[in-house]
Amino acid sequence: MIKTIKEHILEVENFTANDKESVEAFRIKYLGKKGLLNDFFAEFKNVPNEQKKEFGQSINQLKQTALNKVDSLHKSLENNAEQVGVFGDLTRPGNPIELGARHPISIVKNRIIEIFSRIGFNVSEGPEIEDDWHNFTALNLPEYHPARDMQDTFFVQTDPDVLLRTHTSSVQVRYMENNQPPIRTISPGRVYRNEAISARSHCFFHQVEGLYIDKDVSFADLKQTLQYFTTELFGKSKIRLRPSYFPFTEPSAEVDVYWGLETETDYKMTKGTGWLEIMGCGMVDPNVLKNCGIDSDEYSGFAFGMGIDRIALLLHQISDIRLLSENDLRFLEQFRSVL
Ligand code: DAH
Repeated sequence: MIKTIKEHILEVENFTANDKESVEAFRIKYLGKKGLLNDFFAEFKNVPNEQKKEFGQSINQLKQTALNKVDSLHKSLENNAEQVGVFGDLTRPGNPIELGARHPISIVKNRIIEIFSRIGFNVSEGPEIEDDWHNFTALNLPEYHPARDMQDTFFVQTDPDVLLRTHTSSVQVRYMENNQPPIRTISPGRVYRNEAISARSHCFFHQVEGLYIDKDVSFADLKQTLQYFTTELFGKSKIRLRPSYFPFTEPSAEVDVYWGLETETDYKMTKGTGWLEIMGCGMVDPNVLKNCGIDSDEYSGFAFGMGIDRIALLLHQISDIRLLSENDLRFLEQFRSVL
């Protein structure tokens, strides 16, 4: 009898199971009401006295071994279930990291940079807090020049020499002061003007300045470059240059692109004309070249400047410029799919 119990102990120790049902059957076999252990305990009274001690110890050992086994099998089944839950389905999406979106200003700025970099323009930057020389005087806008009124300026504290730049043209001055021709550079950046905030204008916005200086640069080169640009950015190659005035260029022009009049939005955007004004440009005034240390007898060049915000509004049909600086996620998330 004792021998049989010892064999059961061995059997229990070696038992394994991978599912709940087998563990339960095993438990019933040994520990159930009509299980083997109860049979052995019932047998106890028939065991001769001298064997009682050893017999009792053996069935207790069998009971403990069976209890431990059931317990450890339950635990390992639970662990397995957890593992399957976490790693079982390999087609599940990975960590739910939300995709960010580029700001529409960055989207348009990057596209402009990319288009000009293809024809050899590099990118240059300058400070947003400027001095009078770089923002005005060097650009042919000496003190008391009436054209200074074209751009309402924020001065820093009471020092009239320190101001928030009103245009990125200040960067072309800095670039020419530090580089000799040939120069091909574009300068994107933020600019500030003391203007009332409305759906169409803001007290800060973004511009891209372009500058090309070399020998024999002509107005035809300017027009060709701008035509390449509008074709690449808008898919529209029809442009016109209207005579205009900027102190730093002579002659100066305003550039319109023919947008077309196919839809009602086209009518609204172009006020029924089909034409959209997109930038100012001109041949760099020889005075500006001289101010920046470039020989104006040897070199000539063109410059242009455009507002990034305005182009972003056009391209993405945004109706209010204030949306660009309010950081409203409901607005910004709409640009997720745009690179
Ligand atoms: N700086 C001008 C503005 O802010 C834009 C501009 C016009 C820049 C003509 C230029 C240019 O370089 O040639 O209104």
